[in-house]
Amino acid sequence: MDHDLIVIGAGPGGYIAAIRAAQLGLSVACIDDWSRDDGGPAPGGTCTNVGCIPSKAMLQSSEHYEHVAHGMAEHGIEVGSVKLDLARMLARKQQVVRQNNDGILYLFKKNKVKFLHGRAAFAAQVDGGFEIEVSGAEQARLRARHVIVATGSRPRALPGVEFDEKRVLSNTGALALQKVPERMGIIGAGVIGLEMGSVWRRLGAKVTVLEALPEFLGAADAQVAKEAMKQFTRQGLDIQLGVKIAEVKPAAKNGPVKLRYADAKGAEQTLEVDALMVSIGRLPHTEGLQLDKVGVKTDERGFVVVDGDCRTEVPGIWAVGDVVRGPMLAHKAEEEGVAVAERLAGQKPHVDFNTVPWVIYTSPEIAWVGQTEQALKAAGRAYKAGSFPFMANGRARALGDTTGFVKMLADASTDEILGVHVIGPLASELIAEAAVAMEFKASAEDIARICHAHPTLSEAMKEAALATDSRALNF
Ligand code: FAD
Ligand code: NAI
Repeated sequence: MDHDLIVIGAGPGGYIAAIRAAQLGLSVACIDDWSRDDGGPAPGGTCTNVGCIPSKAMLQSSEHYEHVAHGMAEHGIEVGSVKLDLARMLARKQQVVRQNNDGILYLFKKNKVKFLHGRAAFAAQVDGGFEIEVSGAEQARLRARHVIVATGSRPRALPGVEFDEKRVLSNTGALALQKVPERMGIIGAGVIGLEMGSVWRRLGAKVTVLEALPEFLGAADAQVAKEAMKQFTRQGLDIQLGVKIAEVKPAAKNGPVKLRYADAKGAEQTLEVDALMVSIGRLPHTEGLQLDKVGVKTDERGFVVVDGDCRTEVPGIWAVGDVVRGPMLAHKAEEEGVAVAERLAGQKPHVDFNTVPWVIYTSPEIAWVGQTEQALKAAGRAYKAGSFPFMANGRARALGDTTGFVKMLADASTDEILGVHVIGPLASELIAEAAVAMEFKASAEDIARICHAHPTLSEAMKEAALATDSRALNF
C-alpha cells in the first residue's frame, strides 16, 4: 500500500481528518479538485472558497459600511459622504480566501500530508485496501488501507432553473457580484439567504426573500425567530413566508429575472429582480466518485450511508461532513474528521450532535446549542426557562448594541442545561460558554455561580442562568 489513508476532499472535514491522522503517525494522502482562478490548488472546500470564510469577510465589510454610514452619529462622530468601492471589498474577500488556501497547503507540508490537486474516483477494491484514480491537474493511481470520503455538498437548484451565476445565483455568484443589484430576490429564508441578503441589503440592494414554509427559521427557538423576524424586517429585508414559486424566468441578456409566485393567502404575485439567489438547501456531492465500484451505498437523498461513527457499510471506507447525515456545518465536519482519524489510530472518540452550536452571522447574530423550547414542550420534558435582555447589560449599552437576549433552558428537577439561545451582539462568541457547559453537563446554577468579568456581554449568560431560578440581579 502507498498510504495508510487517502482522504478525498480537502474541505474542513477532509483536511482536518488528514492532519489529525498524520499527527497520529499514519501515512496520509489528501486529494482535492478545487482550483483558484490561475489554475492552482485551492484547498479548504466550500467553507474556504465560497462558504464560511468569504461570506464572513463580506458580512464584516458590509457591516462596517453600514455602521460608518448610519451608526457613527450617536457616538458623536460625524462622517462625510461614504463611498462604496465594491471591487476593493471583493478583492479583500478574495485575499482572505487565498490566505486560508495557503494556510492549508502549509499545514499539509508541516504535517507531511501528501496533497494531490485533482479529481479522485474509486478504481477498485484491492487486496487489503482500495485503489484510487486521480485525474485532472495531477494524475496518479494510489492505494491505501483506508479511505475517507469528504466530498462535501453543492447548491440545490430549483427544478428547471439553472445557476448562471450572473443573474441566477448560488452562494458562489452571490459572493462575487461585481455591481450592487438594485433589486435582489432570494428564494429560501435559510442561513445563506439571511446572511447574503444582509450583505447586499447593507450595500444598497432592495432585498425580497421568498420562503416556502409558513414559519420563519423553524430550527431556531421560536422566541429568537420572532425577534429575528422583527429586526430583519425593521432593517428593510422584505421576508415573505408561505410562498409557492410558480415560475422563474431568467433574464434575457442584462434584463431582469421575472418571478411568479403564490403568496401565503394563495394570491398570485409577480416580482422583477436584477439578481436572484436560490438558497434552498444543499445536496451531497458524490458525482464521479464511482462509489458503486466498491459497493458504498447512498440513501434516497444521495447522502453516503454511514453509522454513528462515520463507517460506511464497506470496511475501510469512511465518510464525514456534508456528504453524510447531520447538520451541514464546518465544525461538525471537522469533529467527524478528527473522530475518524482517531478511531483509525485505535482511540474511541465521540461526536455529540446535541452540543454542536449553530450560528447565523446576521446582525443581530443568532446562536444556539442544545434544544429549543418548542422541542422540549413537544417531548413533554419538564423545564424552566430564564431570559436576560442585552438592554439591561452594561457592555451592550456602551457598545450601542442592545438588541436581543440570552435565553437558557434547564431541566426542572436536575437543573441540567438543556439549551441556550442567544440573539444579539457577538452571539457567535457567547455561545461557546454554553457549549462547554453542556459538554460538562453543567447546571444553570453552575453558570450562575461562576464569576464573569464586568462589564462584558458574557454577564448576560450568567444573568440568564440566574433567571431560570427567578433571581436575575440586573433585570
Ligand atoms: P466541503 O467544504 O464542501 O469540501 C469538499 C471538497 O471536496 C471540495 O473542495 C470539493 O471540490 C472536493 N471534492 C468533491 N469531490 C471530489 C473528488 N471526487 N475528488 C477530489 N475532490 C473532490 N458552516 C459553518 O459552520 N459556518 C459558517 O459560517 C458557514 N457558512 C457558510 C456559508 C455559505 C455561503 C455556504 C455555502 C456554506 C456555509 N457553511 C458554514 C457550511 C460549510 O461550508 C460546510 O458545512 C462545510 O464546508 C462542509 O465541509 P466538508 O469538508 O464536508 O465539504
Ligand atoms: P437552509 O436549509 O438553511 O435553508 C433553505 C430554506 O429554503 C429553508 O427555509 C427552506 O424551507 C427553503 N426552501 C426550500 N425549498 C424552497 C422553495 N422551493 N421555495 C422557497 N423556499 C424554499 O439552506 P441554505 O440557506 O441553502 O444553506 C445550506 C446549508 O449551509 C445550511 O443548512 C447550513 O447548514 C449551511 N450554512 C451554514 C451557515 C452558518 O453556519 N452560519 C451559513 C450558510 C450556510
